[in-house]
Amino acid sequence: MKTAILISGALLLSACQSVQNETTLYDELGGLPAIEKIVDGFIYEVGFDEQIVQHFEQTDLDRFRSKLIEQICEVSDGPCQYSGDSMLDVHANMDINESEFNRTVDLLIMSMEKHGIPQTTQNKLLSRLAPLRPDIIYH
Ligand code: HEM
Repeated sequence: MKTAILISGALLLSACQSVQNETTLYDELGGLPAIEKIVDGFIYEVGFDEQIVQHFEQTDLDRFRSKLIEQICEVSDGPCQYSGDSMLDVHANMDINESEFNRTVDLLIMSMEKHGIPQTTQNKLLSRLAPLRPDIIYH
């Protein structure tokens, strides 16, 4: 009897662990509905930001929104496949400097903050986007 309890306890524990291991950053963020809200909030902030808004004057915002949602979904291990252009191609010739890059990241953080994303989760997403930086700044 004791052994049966121990075994079922162990099974339950390993089931819990495997559920825990399967939790992706995508889930942590709140899935697609949360990512959509974060991106919408980010675009709203960009619209009011004197430092970077001029880069977006000619931009098709519907496309930008859908590609950024896809990208964040993909880098956070969600069920999406990014179908946009490469970061290098998109941002080439925009002459984006370090301060503009940092400002853009700040606006993304602002949006995540407004949507109640915990700081540890925010940092996880930022660290997955950070490797894109060299393709975005100055070419
Ligand atoms: C981690 C930082 C960034 C990420 C992940 C990112 C991601 C993206 C994505 C996914 C697109 C859409 C690509 C497509 O249409 O195929 C895009 C477009 C664009 N990005 Fe970024 N971006 C970042 C930083 C920046 C910065 C710092 C600026 C300028 C200050 C910027 C300005 C733009 C503009 C203007 C477009 C639209 C280009 C067009 O009109 O065709 N991005 N970006």
